This record gives sequence, C-alpha cells and structure tokens, in this order.
Amino acid sequence: MHFQANWSFPTEVRFGAGRIVELPEVVRSAGMKNPLFVTDKALSQLPISTRAMDILKSAGLKTALFCEIRPNPILQNVEDGVSAFKAGAHDGVVAFGGGSALDVGKTIAFMAGQKGNLWDYDFLEGLWDKADASAIAPIVTVPTTAGTGSEIGRGAMITDLQSHTKRVVFHPLMRAKTVVADPELSVGLPRTLTVGTAMDALAHCIESLSTTYYHPMCDAIAVEGIRLIFENLPKVYSNPDDIEGRGHLMSAAAMGAVAFQKGMGAVHALSHPVGSLFDTHHGMTNGVFLPYVLQANRSAVEDKFARVAAYIGLDRSFDAFLKALLELRKTTGVPHTLSELKVTVDKRDEIAEMAVIDSCGPENPVPFTKELALNIFDNAMTGTVRDA
Ligand SMILES: [Fe+2]
Repeated sequence: MHFQANWSFPTEVRFGAGRIVELPEVVRSAGMKNPLFVTDKALSQLPISTRAMDILKSAGLKTALFCEIRPNPILQNVEDGVSAFKAGAHDGVVAFGGGSALDVGKTIAFMAGQKGNLWDYDFLEGLWDKADASAIAPIVTVPTTAGTGSEIGRGAMITDLQSHTKRVVFHPLMRAKTVVADPELSVGLPRTLTVGTAMDALAHCIESLSTTYYHPMCDAIAVEGIRLIFENLPKVYSNPDDIEGRGHLMSAAAMGAVAFQKGMGAVHALSHPVGSLFDTHHGMTNGVFLPYVLQANRSAVEDKFARVAAYIGLDRSFDAFLKALLELRKTTGVPHTLSELKVTVDKRDEIAEMAVIDSCGPENPVPFTKELALNIFDNAMTGTVRDA
C-alpha cells in the first residue's frame, strides 16, 4: 500500500429528474452568455438535445451546435470544435451526451485559448501545466448516459491517429463548473448501451477499489457505486422507463469517475487495445473482462470483495461476489467471451503488448506482466472462470 496520497474531489452536481430546466441558470452562473453546445451527431437529432438548446434560447441565451464527433473522438474533432468556438465568439461550453461528447466538449474548452497543439499539453508526459489556465473556457456538463462519469472528472480521452492510441488530456480547470445530472435524459438509451455504459461504471468502481493506492474516501464511494449498479441495472434492464433506477445508475457512474482518480487496472489496460483494434464498445468490453481480471487479482483483492459481498447482501466471500457478477452479466446480456465481441486470437500478442504499456496497467493490484495479460486474454476468449 502507498500510505501517502493527494486527494481532491469537489464538483457541484445538480441531480434529479427534470433538472435540465435549470440549465440556463447554471450556464449563467458559470459566466456564459453564448455557450457552444457540444454533442454527437446522433444525439443532436434527438428531442432531448433540441429541447435542451430550446431551453437555453428561450431563456435569452445565444447558443450554437457543434456535433462533428466520432464515437472514439480524434484530434480533428477537437480542432474543428475550437474553430467553431472561435468563429461563434463563444464564451464557454455545454457538453451534452455520453463520454465522447463530454470529452470533446471539455477538451474544446481547454484548447479554446491555447497557443499550442493539444499534444503539447500531454498529461502522461507531465506537460498539462504548460497550458495557460486563464485561457480555459468554463464548462457545464450534462450526461445522457450512465457510464463514463466524464461529466464529473478533469480529464478526457482523445485518440491520436498517428500512434493509434488514446491519449489523456487533463487539467484541473477541465472540471465542470456544474453538472446537470437528469436521469430523464437517459430514458431513451437503447438497452445494449444502458448495459454497456453501466458495465463501464461498474469496472471503474471495481478497479478503483482493487488498486492498492491509499484513498479510503474513493474506496467508500466505489463500494456504494457497486451496490447501486447491482441493485438497479437489472431493474432498468427489465423496465427502461424506471427513472429512479436510472437515477441510481447515473449516480453510480459519477461515483465511479470520482473513485477512479485513485487508479484503475487490468480491465481497462486490456479493454483499451481491444477497443482500438476491434472497435468494440468500451464499457461492454470491460464487462467481458471483469470476472477474468477479478479472478487473476484474487490473491490481492479477496478480502475487499468478501466485504463488498456482505455489503450488497451476499455471503461474506469473494466467491459469492464473483458468482453474483457472473449472474448480473448473464441477466443483462453481457457477452461472456471476447469471441462474442468478434475479437480474434491472431491479435493476442499485440493486445498483450499494448496492454502492459497502457497507463492503467501499473495500477493493477498484482503485477501486470505480459504473461498475465496473455493469461487473462486467453481465459476471456474461451470463457474460463474458475467455478465460483
Ligand atoms: Fe472506462
């Protein structure tokens, strides 16, 4: 255990059904009169987006839409957004949607007044503080899924097409001034996306609890996030209009993102290369990997997950938690194997090599070697989890 740490997590959240009507007030108090409304193309055509923009306009605010965003956003999306921001003389960003729109919106606000290129401020190279903090535009985030938790965090993932890797963008001022978390906005989300995004949130909670860094506040948040997902995902799966259930999932997503500032691990380290090589859904890929990674980490996390099992109403044992996780995946249609995501074995070596150099790898509670990555990958291909 690293018995030393830096802690930080204050983001204002206005949570609850129907609170999208407070968007103009929130935008004004963030200092904006003319926000750029950033969302993805598919979402821009849905009534929830047009209604949110209408709410802004009818309150006397100017706004314009930017929606040129890929599902896995790239640098060009950010650069086009910054051009739109400047062309419209915008004074802030409303980032509205799932992870891609939120990440691009936050990064547009970050880059709005910078002189350099985005990669000049690469987080993993320690360059983020070279950015001019006074030139970062204010941000309001509005999640419409319950998974990434990007609405609450200070980072974003943008794909670098030259290296085919997702790069981390970070700055403390990329944190939203306010989050409007209205579960009504997630009601129309297709069932597979509801499950996939919830698996992402669950992976954030499980991985942040698993990692050995010292952060008991994050641990507590992760444990409650796990409970909310176990109790509410099956309800929302069988009744997509369950606003209360969707509200709990939206909370759990934000909690996962608060928790994962502590660290993540092998699920995300493996999921990143699988996603970039096979274009699989990030959350669903995490959902596939979860039991195999838990099993691989068992020696380091057995006691923690026995406590979690007791907390969520199961026998106090690691095996009870693993069994419940397998059942949750089964009842909500999460594929059991990577083969079902059309991942093929010929990329086995490449995936393992990319996984061990992923930034999440060193955060895994047991040393994440290439051998372990290959072992987890093989189990996830064949569906081999030790009988729980
Ligand atoms: Fe994730």
